[in-house]
Amino acid sequence: MPYVIGSSVQLACIMVGLPARGKTYIAQKASRYLQWIGIPTRVFNVGQYRRKLAGAHQDHSFFDPTNAEAVKQRLQCAFEALGDMIKWFKEDKGIVGFYDATNSTVARREVIRKRLEAQGIQVMFIESMCDDESLVLSNITQVKRNSPDYAGEVDPETVIDDFRARIAHYETVYETITEDDATFVKMLNVGSRVIINRIQGYLQSRVVYYLMNLHITPRSIFFSRHGESLYNITGKLGGDSDLSPRGLKYAEALPGLIAKHMDGQKLTVWTSTLRRTIQTGQYLPYPKLQWKALDELDAGVCDGLTYEEVEDQYPEDFALRDDDKFNYRYRGGESYRDVVLRLEPVIMELERQHNILIVSHQAVLRCIYAYYLNYTPDELPYIKIPLHTVLKLTPRAYGCDVELYKFDIEAVDTYRANPKRPSSLRRLGSQRRSTSSPTMAGQPPALRRNQLNSGVISSPQTLVCVTPPTEEVTQ
Ligand code: ATP
Ligand code: F6P
Repeated sequence: MPYVIGSSVQLACIMVGLPARGKTYIAQKASRYLQWIGIPTRVFNVGQYRRKLAGAHQDHSFFDPTNAEAVKQRLQCAFEALGDMIKWFKEDKGIVGFYDATNSTVARREVIRKRLEAQGIQVMFIESMCDDESLVLSNITQVKRNSPDYAGEVDPETVIDDFRARIAHYETVYETITEDDATFVKMLNVGSRVIINRIQGYLQSRVVYYLMNLHITPRSIFFSRHGESLYNITGKLGGDSDLSPRGLKYAEALPGLIAKHMDGQKLTVWTSTLRRTIQTGQYLPYPKLQWKALDELDAGVCDGLTYEEVEDQYPEDFALRDDDKFNYRYRGGESYRDVVLRLEPVIMELERQHNILIVSHQAVLRCIYAYYLNYTPDELPYIKIPLHTVLKLTPRAYGCDVELYKFDIEAVDTYRANPKRPSSLRRLGSQRRSTSSPTMAGQPPALRRNQLNSGVISSPQTLVCVTPPTEEVTQ
């Protein structure tokens, strides 16, 4: 890992900005990225504390700085959240905490900074500014309307008017960051201009670099494993074999589905450097790029063996892998943790890009999928990504929609469940629900997994769509 476990550096990222400027979006996304690369990270959203303390249904007058009673309650929420974040840093040894609130005045930011620095926690402010009225309006209509603050309100105009009045209250007190002695990154209009000040060290620069690569233009990301290979048929791991006749059929069918979805839009195809993905992409009429980083997890001395042969020849290793599949490194090969790290530049490039189809392998696609859908390291190596299936991810405000298209072309099943942890899926599903990800709120734990894994879809046109309910988590 690039990050050394046990490092004493702890970083609090303090969000700053008017309502509907993407603060929650930025905090959630950066948190997901840092967790994926193995850095213990958590978001503390003051809006959730506010709803708990004062109730969800507050109109704009609650945010009026002249409303003394409300100011008191909002301050209480802000400090409860801050206290919990400090406790998390101290007791749970958190590394990066995002404090998600407007933090719109110099005075508030100074109090927060002093309290955190007194505990030896680094402070970095992340300010999002946006003067594009149409973007703010679209954030209100597409995201804020679904907020629990407006649950039951059916008239969109009422929501827009009330949220605009809320913004106007904040504008009367808002002070952009000018604290020259502070560490900050200021983003204007979704990164069209970025100002950084006193950024230092690995964690801070990692976060800033990630934020500089984000965009919010709508796009689709498609995932496909290669078509069935000759090694797949014989159950062999790894290798560089050709496609089977059924795999070739899949390669021939793939362009039709993608063309239907792209409808003339631009797309780039990324493959690994292995024959089976290149052959799978051969009929796709789009620009192509080969990435070594997209090659399958290297099974080392077990490359070319079947699972049965591995169990026979390396029984200890086989058991160790079942004990901790994410961390187990094949002799002379890789672990899932290694693959996540080599995929980090791929993720960064994916954030910068528009429509992309990735044709890769079982283990690699699990790692990329886990980044988008927030799977834990425990869950990641057991995600089911069957052959002859296309996954379409559409990034949304706080998560992703997933559609799954299974082709009617038979293929072997290369999935191996863990015999030692038959109930792992249920257990892990409930873990996910307890994460701070707003996309998960109120969602049955097994929903995404069950839908994704249902192998009952027989036509490539059949759609499984997972649209997690978006809980707004604003201040
Ligand atoms: P609040 O203060 O009410 O919590 P917020 O600033 O946290 O608001 P979000 O809830 O994160 O706002 O708004 C989500 C929307 O912001 C998404 O639709 C996302 O596309 C958009 N968005 C993301 N980044 C930015 C940005 N830098 N500027 C403006 N909008 C953005
Ligand atoms: O069996 C197909 C395959 O892509 C192998 O080449 C690779 O070793 C394996 O899947 C990865 O899956 P798992 O980590 O579940 O063994």
